[in-house]
Amino acid sequence: MAFPPSFIDELIARNPIEDVVGQYVSLKRSGGNLFGLCPFHGEKTASFSVAPDKGIYYCFGCHKGGGAVNFMMEVEGLSYPDAVRALAKRAGMQVPEDEQYQSRYRQQERLWALHKEAARFFHTQLYAPNGKEALEYALGRGMPKSTLTTFGVGYAPDSWDALVKEMQAKGYTQQELIDSGLVTVSRKNGNIFDRFRDRLMFPIIDVRGNVIGFGGRIMNNKDPNAAKYLNSPETLIFNKRKNLFGLNMAKKSKLGYLILVEGYMDAIALHQYGFDCAVASLGTSLTEEHAALLSRYTEQLYLIYDGDEAGQRAAQRAIPMLEKAGIQIKVLRMRDAKDPDEFLKKFGADRFKILLEQSSNRVEYQLNAIRAKYDLREDDQKIRYVQEAAELICTLGSFVKREVYGGRVAESAGISAEAMKLEVDKAYKRRIAKEKKQQEKIDLAPARALQPKERSIRYDNMKSALAEEDVIAQILREPAMLEHCKHLAGSQFSVPLLGKVYDQLVIRYGSGMEVSPAVLEDLSAEETSHITGIYHRRQSPVNENAFRDCVKIILAEQQGRAVSSDDDLLALRNKLKESKGTKV
Ligand code: GTP
Ligand code: MN
Repeated sequence: MAFPPSFIDELIARNPIEDVVGQYVSLKRSGGNLFGLCPFHGEKTASFSVAPDKGIYYCFGCHKGGGAVNFMMEVEGLSYPDAVRALAKRAGMQVPEDEQYQSRYRQQERLWALHKEAARFFHTQLYAPNGKEALEYALGRGMPKSTLTTFGVGYAPDSWDALVKEMQAKGYTQQELIDSGLVTVSRKNGNIFDRFRDRLMFPIIDVRGNVIGFGGRIMNNKDPNAAKYLNSPETLIFNKRKNLFGLNMAKKSKLGYLILVEGYMDAIALHQYGFDCAVASLGTSLTEEHAALLSRYTEQLYLIYDGDEAGQRAAQRAIPMLEKAGIQIKVLRMRDAKDPDEFLKKFGADRFKILLEQSSNRVEYQLNAIRAKYDLREDDQKIRYVQEAAELICTLGSFVKREVYGGRVAESAGISAEAMKLEVDKAYKRRIAKEKKQQEKIDLAPARALQPKERSIRYDNMKSALAEEDVIAQILREPAMLEHCKHLAGSQFSVPLLGKVYDQLVIRYGSGMEVSPAVLEDLSAEETSHITGIYHRRQSPVNENAFRDCVKIILAEQQGRAVSSDDDLLALRNKLKESKGTKV
């Protein structure tokens, strides 16, 4: 939505970037700027910068950047309007709301409230006469009352309308119940009935503390055909690709690491046994969104998936995603028990702690996985094992690591350490050759190398695009440059995003308002990062002549585009003439 620009200006002024960022990152001053560890990717040296005078932040490592609004979008996973609202609240400002957004936000608030009421209802049902069996089941599975309270575990009664009635009595409409996903609409007559019936209920709570959905476990093998777990469907407030069970509590843990498991019961058991840093994915495989979310809270994560093949496959898929998000992973394969819940109950917390300490880093884990694929009694399989292991080992950055892991593989394959080293060197050379080829390809197509890192933004006309970048960068540095391009319009830019930003800056400058990357509106977080990146990359001092040249290039390229389409037209007419053999 478009908030009035003057409102955005005041919002930015009253939320100094260093204060907003400072709530999440500890910043140290160095010259005019502040530096800290980037909250968006794991790092040990500070490449995250904050420029108070411009109201922006930028990470030279992961290239995220923008103003206070963009920071809130990224760090809290908020939409643009919600980030604006959060900052307004922080500064005690009234938000001028547009009808549509107001109603959407109100709708979300109603759904949060409805879920909270539903969670309360389910929890009390656990202690009602009808919930006797469920309570016994829960206690029987080793969850004491304190755990049931902490997690708000509840019981959805064996009824078609217990929840519907309860919520309607509290004033929720049929439509709100449908929107909540907690009811199902009958295809036959359009009536609604409870989605969760006779299930043990686990509320799913987001990091801000809102109940956004439920997972419901079927009671002891009642119906062998029914799904063991039923989750809330996707709704306005629930996206299972972006949320994890237990993170609302795990984020407060003092343990300094997180544990990621497969099941609700596993996460709960871990908390109960003192590992209050456990989270579970919600019956889906881990997504990149999950990895990004986790990386906001930890740099170190233990991945514990069930010992079965499905669990191990899921772990293999999760590893690169977590590493890409900058998280250090240790992988633990469950032994002597099906899952962590069972393990804790069989062997207790101390044995589990030992298991954690013995868990392998991802290299060990991946080497084990490679080894498991081959039968080492067969010579040809042994050779393939050594080769595949060498391919993994040659990617390791440190000589010591290559020595250590190479030595281990050599031992397990019964070959000499020297032979293994040769194999690793060979794999390394193959890899370098391959990378060189790829680099050559990039060098041969420089335009491709200049394409924005952000995939959603493409430069079709590189010459114009670079001039457009320069124009934007110079204006952001010195808004008065806008005096030198009065005849230029955003619609003449070859990159729509840059044109859109240009138009916003023109309007702001024209009405005497703030011009900076911090005040851009209606852009995605990635788009804002891209613009902030341009601002940082193009540091050359403002220069009127260079600026005018860029404007000229943009206009010429735009005319070229117009002309070339005229050319096309001409060519088409000539072709037509030829085919008809007549003169026009
Ligand atoms: P318990 O059997 O109660 O100990 O639960 P568990 O967590 O050990 O179950 P399991 O290992 O079978 O499944 C792990 C996770 O996968 C669960 O916590 C659910 O999130 C998900 N899951 C399991 N079964 C189903 C199902 O039938 N449907 C859906 N949507 N998710 C399921
Ligand atoms: Mn289990």
